[in-house]
Amino acid sequence: MEKKVTIVGAGHVGATAAITLALKDIADIVLIDIVEGTPQGKALDMMQMAPICNFNSKITGTNDYKDTANSDVVVVTAGLPRKPGMSRDDLLSVNAKITESVTNEIVKYSPNCILIVVTNPLDVMVNLAMEFSGFPKNRLIGMAGVLDSARYRTFLAEELDASPGDVQGMVLGIHGDKMLPIPRFTTVNGIPITELLPKEKIDEIGERTKVGGGEIVKLLKTGSAYYAPGISITVMVEAILKDLKKKLPCAVYLEGEYGISGVFLGVPVILGKNGVEKIIELNLTEEELEALKDSAASVKDNMDAMHKINMSER
Ligand code: NAI
Ligand code: 2OP
Repeated sequence: MEKKVTIVGAGHVGATAAITLALKDIADIVLIDIVEGTPQGKALDMMQMAPICNFNSKITGTNDYKDTANSDVVVVTAGLPRKPGMSRDDLLSVNAKITESVTNEIVKYSPNCILIVVTNPLDVMVNLAMEFSGFPKNRLIGMAGVLDSARYRTFLAEELDASPGDVQGMVLGIHGDKMLPIPRFTTVNGIPITELLPKEKIDEIGERTKVGGGEIVKLLKTGSAYYAPGISITVMVEAILKDLKKKLPCAVYLEGEYGISGVFLGVPVILGKNGVEKIIELNLTEEELEALKDSAASVKDNMDAMHKINMSER
């Protein structure tokens, strides 16, 4: 196929992204991991779905970055997932080292790729990937907003007994407890949810969304969510490869938008063949803007914490 996508980390999220992307039939896929046999075995298993599902994407499993050369898009899911009792920030130090080594390899073999970071804590890891890669900001994107918005939309659809696809809305800000569901911009086929549900119920659903990842961690006990994260990645990759100009919430580098600078944060963007083609600046209320700035302050705190850990380890 003309397009090539590498997925780093053949674990739960990486493998789910690989198979959901293969089902779209738009790119060859390379699945790479440090564990020998895992990416190869999963790729072989997925390839045996091809005749049944009728896709032509070639899926290759490897431990060698040479096989990832000249990828159009690279998705980083390498790292430890959250275990019960662990916050996303507990993952900081260990996943920072993984992100550093992985980013260096990606830059070496696919210097022109668009890089989508998924590893947690997301907003910090995508910041780090920018430091290590030196990529321009349009080619560096964090995945979280599509997932967090999907959780919000699911909970709303459940409450309203609506078809989930009819619920449209965006969750902005950090991928953490200070994320920001925006009811004003959330509709069911154009009807604002503020017309359909009382404020208390909307707030309750917003609160559940903020801890939506943790709810799944508690149930799974040995890891975190991967089905919805995997398809969220695929939606973003598809938007880029097909130049769909989709308006999606993504963690991107802000330079003054929303009065915030020098940090990656979830905001609506246009995704197309050049990656982040435009950051959409919504007209937020004072209260919403304050909450978004609070979210940005949390990302900056996490960045500071990570740099301190790094310095004390040198
Ligand atoms: P997992 O443990 O199933 O998979 C991680 C994989 O990364 C493993 O196969 C491991 O061998 C591999 N790996 C570790 N170090 C590596 C390296 N240096 N190079 C290549 N591969 C390496 O974990 P899962 O569930 O797939 O989650 C992956 C990451 O994604 C975690 O950090 C998790 O917190 C994060 N995540 C982020 C979401 C988001 O919305 N941004 C949503 C869901 C998960
Ligand atoms: C999630 O939100 C753990 O960040 C991951 O499911």
